[in-house]
Amino acid sequence: MDLILVLKKILFLVNLNLICKRVHGNISSQTSCAGILPADLLEESIPKYGFLPNGVSVLYDTNSHAHAYKFSRNNIDLQFPVSKVFKNCLYFPDEFSIFFVIKHEPLYDKKECILHIGQDNTTLVSIQLSRKYIVLTYNNRKVQYRNFALKDKKWHSVGFSVSASDITMTTDCVNKRRKRLKRKWPSNLPLKNATFQIASCAPARGVTLGHIKDLIFIPGADAAVRACPPKTPQHRHLDNRLPAVPDVYRIGSPGPRWDDCTWTDVGDIAYDLHAKSLKVCVNGIWQHVTVNIEAPTKAPELPRRLDYIDYYQDIRTPGPSIDVELFTIDGEGTFAVFASSRPRKSKKDISIVYKWRKKKFVFYQRLNTDAAQCWKFFAIDNNFFLAVANYGKDSSVQGNSTIFKWHKRRKRFKEFQIIPTWTARDFEHFVMNDKHYLAVANHAKGSSQMVDSGIYIWSTKLRRFKLFQNIMTTGAYDWTYFSVNGYHFLAAAQAFDGFSTLTDSRIYVLQDKQFVLFQTMETNGATDLEYFQIGDSVFLAVANAYNYGPQNIDKKQEYLTNSTIYKLDKGRRVFKTFQTIETFSAVDWEFVTIGDEHFLIVSNAQNRALEGDHLTSIYKWRGVEKFVRVHQMDVLPNTDWEVFTDKRDVYFVYSNAKGKTSQVLKAVFTPS
Ligand SMILES: *[C@@H]1O[C@H](CO)[C@@H](O)[C@H](O)[C@H]1NC(C)=O
Ligand SMILES: *[C@@H]1O[C@H](CO)[C@@H](O)[C@H](O)[C@H]1NC(C)=O
Ligand SMILES: *[C@@H]1O[C@H](CO)[C@@H](O)[C@H](O)[C@H]1NC(C)=O
Ligand SMILES: *[C@@H]1O[C@H](CO)[C@@H](O)[C@H](O)[C@H]1NC(C)=O
Ligand SMILES: *[C@@H]1O[C@H](CO)[C@@H](O)[C@H](O)[C@H]1NC(C)=O
Repeated sequence: MDLILVLKKILFLVNLNLICKRVHGNISSQTSCAGILPADLLEESIPKYGFLPNGVSVLYDTNSHAHAYKFSRNNIDLQFPVSKVFKNCLYFPDEFSIFFVIKHEPLYDKKECILHIGQDNTTLVSIQLSRKYIVLTYNNRKVQYRNFALKDKKWHSVGFSVSASDITMTTDCVNKRRKRLKRKWPSNLPLKNATFQIASCAPARGVTLGHIKDLIFIPGADAAVRACPPKTPQHRHLDNRLPAVPDVYRIGSPGPRWDDCTWTDVGDIAYDLHAKSLKVCVNGIWQHVTVNIEAPTKAPELPRRLDYIDYYQDIRTPGPSIDVELFTIDGEGTFAVFASSRPRKSKKDISIVYKWRKKKFVFYQRLNTDAAQCWKFFAIDNNFFLAVANYGKDSSVQGNSTIFKWHKRRKRFKEFQIIPTWTARDFEHFVMNDKHYLAVANHAKGSSQMVDSGIYIWSTKLRRFKLFQNIMTTGAYDWTYFSVNGYHFLAAAQAFDGFSTLTDSRIYVLQDKQFVLFQTMETNGATDLEYFQIGDSVFLAVANAYNYGPQNIDKKQEYLTNSTIYKLDKGRRVFKTFQTIETFSAVDWEFVTIGDEHFLIVSNAQNRALEGDHLTSIYKWRGVEKFVRVHQMDVLPNTDWEVFTDKRDVYFVYSNAKGKTSQVLKAVFTPS
């Protein structure tokens, strides 16, 4: 067998009303098409019945009733005028997608052609393959991708999405690679007498290589996104609101297996817990089931009951650690990074990233920090970042907080951008309308607690964060972003105004591209805000850490405070006190859902061993009883709690701000 290049049909549900005309340009109405429908280019060029054209043969999979075409090297001349697909169009559509499924068996280093759209001497669009590259040509501009995906001579799906500014190639719905496309917009490429040429780039010259089946042309640039199952959220491990189970269950087998949908698979059904919908595999693409298929009779995961929490692992950190951030990098695994401060007598100030390997956290990488207070992990366009809020040595000197970027080849974080800060306490990353933001909580500037805290926006042009808005904060400790009914909120926990810890914390709301004050609430040494939802109810818990000032002139029990859980009154649009809980040095609330039960863990940063009443507490949601204490843990002093899952196991990690030992704990469930 010589060259084998097989393309296969992808059934596809698309918006049928796309028109060439785009809103951006000044295009006269006569250029807009009557409407382009998704077209199966192979079906258009190869007759369904009767003889196959010269040099074309069929590969048929009896199990799946799927068929693919094979092409011989000679005498392939499959072409038809573009007018068959583009009715009443003067110009080639500016945004479009092309899909195919292929089993590529290349010969030498020859270029093979899957599709050519254009005239004899011009190329509007073509797709070529060689052993090394997959090349999309648009208006005679070549955009080249290294051919990693098709190397193994197995079935793969390839999708190209061409938008105003870039071309994205998506292989197997997993790997997405975007490249910039320099062009005029709109391009107004005249169609003239263009043709679709299948399996060849040089019409009537018989240079066809390989084997093709159905090949789909779709108007619109987002087809690749819509054809693929939703990406599992980057912060899956952090999003404790999700059930502690993998995102996808293939019915009848342990999931998740999105990659199990190949060209011969038709009808495999998977349940996407994230999107809460059934998906069916149709020739290599997972699709939403649009008709009502009966839900799986057996739930993917039986709810489990947390029984108790057990000790699991000690983690040695370079110094006391005030914060821990857990994150997962696709294909790399789960990591934890602790915000550690300089141990006494040591000159070096570093924080350490640990990797979860064989069910333990092990050393992974050192990162330079300066009295680190908080780490934040986030992803932008498939790039991964870690931002550290550095308190610095001296509140009268502007400090530097650092954003590190994951280096894909070296598999390490590297310094990426410095954000000037003043005794920074916290970074908050959030996304609004597809734009990425990073807010820093500056605590003090010199002797004043009043200082601008910057909100930065990611510039796709500069590939950097730039200032979006400054908000004057007073002793800020924490930013928390949340969104309710389309409104975007950013709340600041403010701990100290210079005289007293009894001061206001503030909630801002986005209005006309600026955050404006929405509500203030009196807090007492507030260091953390935790936003969560239970059913339709929206809550905000404030950790009040310290009681200092005229209201406690005797300095009695300074760590003993009431921390408040607020609930949003949606009618009045205001957060109202829902429950107060007496806490001891509470600097973190962590909301966790395990099975169908909701918990709040509150940290106890000053926990002194023998004082039994200062154990670290876990509260459980009990409806009308509100949150009720269910566990008290005799653990080390702790400042930050995170939860993650590994298969069916649920782990807790906390940071210890008083010593070099932080810990991992493990949930034990009642046998069901
Ligand atoms: C659109 O074209 C018309 C006529 O050529 C011109 O007067 C008008 O300014 C253009 N509008 C824009 C937004 O470019
Ligand atoms: C390309 O071919 C068209 C006719 O198909 C002709 O009008 C045009 O001049 C040619 N252009 C070049 C650069 O050869
Ligand atoms: C080429 O296009 C012209 C109109 O632009 C049309 O009259 C002619 O028939 C077309 N020729 C072919 C071979 O399709
Ligand atoms: C912050 O970084 C700048 C250069 O990027 C440097 O000049 C300055 O000294 C740094 N400040 C601190 C406190 O390290
Ligand atoms: C917390 O609130 C309760 C009830 O309002 C009150 O009895 C208690 O003294 C408060 N505790 C502190 C430390 O303020």
